[in-house]
Amino acid sequence: MASDKTIIIGNWKMNFNMQEASLYLHKLAENVKVRRSVEVILAPTTLTLQSLSMQINRRQFKLAAQNFYWRDHGAFTGEVSARQLNGIVEYALIGHSERRHIFHETDKDIRNKVQAAVRNKIRPVLLIGETAWEKSNGETEAVLQDQLVGGLLNLTSEELESVVIGYEPVWAIGTGDKAIPSDVVKAIRTIRNHVKHLYGKVAAENIPVLYGGSVDADSAADYLSQPGVDGLVIGGASIDLHAFTSIISKAHQINQEEKK
Ligand code: PGA
Repeated sequence: MASDKTIIIGNWKMNFNMQEASLYLHKLAENVKVRRSVEVILAPTTLTLQSLSMQINRRQFKLAAQNFYWRDHGAFTGEVSARQLNGIVEYALIGHSERRHIFHETDKDIRNKVQAAVRNKIRPVLLIGETAWEKSNGETEAVLQDQLVGGLLNLTSEELESVVIGYEPVWAIGTGDKAIPSDVVKAIRTIRNHVKHLYGKVAAENIPVLYGGSVDADSAADYLSQPGVDGLVIGGASIDLHAFTSIISKAHQINQEEKK
């Protein structure tokens, strides 16, 4: 593991209104113990962020934005900036495949967002991964490299220290198609090798790399126990109280076992 802490991100996507989000947070807070071994990060919709930020115990949960616009302010109707999120969230998801594919975000948009997050003291969670087509064409490594270079360009070594990487194969997100753990290990090794190439050995060892894509309570441990996997990004199962609670406690268990 690159860090002592296991990172578990719950990406709620476009689910829960204000009331539902509050209620869920309340129940989750009752179920989850405050532990130094696991960093639990919740990514609710932008609408609910501010209110949840006043309700959470920040030792128990951190918040992440699912999205924002990269300019700090200006005439951008309908957008929210990283500058406005500063003080509300500690993290921001950037480059999620739904943003890349449904909203056509390019590597340039993604890189601008990574820089905006860093500029505004928000830790970027850069999400990368290949499509089914790219996988079947043997392009996984090349895609990961391109997306890493695309997302991290111009970032200094010091700035890189706040970055978290998430490997999320597009074909595994929300589909129930599970990646084989040994393939995840391989992809994460590729990611670290490339970070090493760009920023050196220490950076490659220290950068937290997570896995995401149809992870549920049953499969979480299979991924968490793999070498190089520092945590998980959970979509569907993160809005299921029972499943998410169980994933967090597995993360704690495995983290403690690895320290022995
Ligand atoms: P999923 O989503 O767990 O529902 O596949 C993962 C994600 O979107 O990050």
